[in-house]
Amino acid sequence: MSAHPLVPLSPPSEIGPFHIRPASEDDLPALVRLDTELFPDFAYPYFVLRQFLDLYQDRLLVLDDGSSLHGYALSALSADGRTSWILGLGVAERLRGRGLARRLMQETLRRLPADGVHEVWLTVEPANTAAITLYHSLGFTRQGARKDYFGPGHDRLLLALRH
Ligand SMILES: CC(C)(COP(=O)(O)OP(=O)(O)OC[C@H]1O[C@@H](n2cnc3c(N)ncnc32)[C@H](O)[C@@H]1OP(=O)(O)O)[C@@H](O)C(=O)NCCC(=O)NCCS
Repeated sequence: MSAHPLVPLSPPSEIGPFHIRPASEDDLPALVRLDTELFPDFAYPYFVLRQFLDLYQDRLLVLDDGSSLHGYALSALSADGRTSWILGLGVAERLRGRGLARRLMQETLRRLPADGVHEVWLTVEPANTAAITLYHSLGFTRQGARKDYFGPGHDRLLLALRH
């Protein structure tokens, strides 16, 4: 499905095999659908995902079973190349709890430039226990809590992983 190298995963018994690979332009409609399903209140519009793909293709990773997308992770580098931000992470609801988000995050972190990136930052909703537990297990630590970070009523915790 893609010329990019594939990262094989242990598939759940009824679906798969899953691969993690950089997204391509052909993935956009499915990616938009998936993002809307994952983040009903904060889904990226099509044009934003389109431009993320233009900017960050190698860092827009999708979880693919060969016929559809079931998750994605998006990261971006700061202008000086020293800080990376996780801009999106999600796995389809029916496939959660199988270690797939952990694999997406591990692959995202593995692809960071070996020299130069000193910190990875992300924001997370304070009540999102699943995501917070995952990030802590990967070594992220809480850096602060910001009220209204994503607009009125949308507080976020800031977490960082330092090398
Ligand atoms: C958060 C999310 C990505 C986790 O995906 P997942 O594939 O179920 O996560 P994994 O199976 O890889 O779990 C990895 C770790 O996360 C933690 N975790 C996952 N689900 C959890 C839950 N319901 N409660 C507590 N911890 C949980 C555990 O530490 C788990 O490790 P373990 O299985 O060894 O205990 C998924 O719930 C999701 O897509 N949610 C909607 C979108 C979202 O909130 N994204 C994060 C935005 S910051």
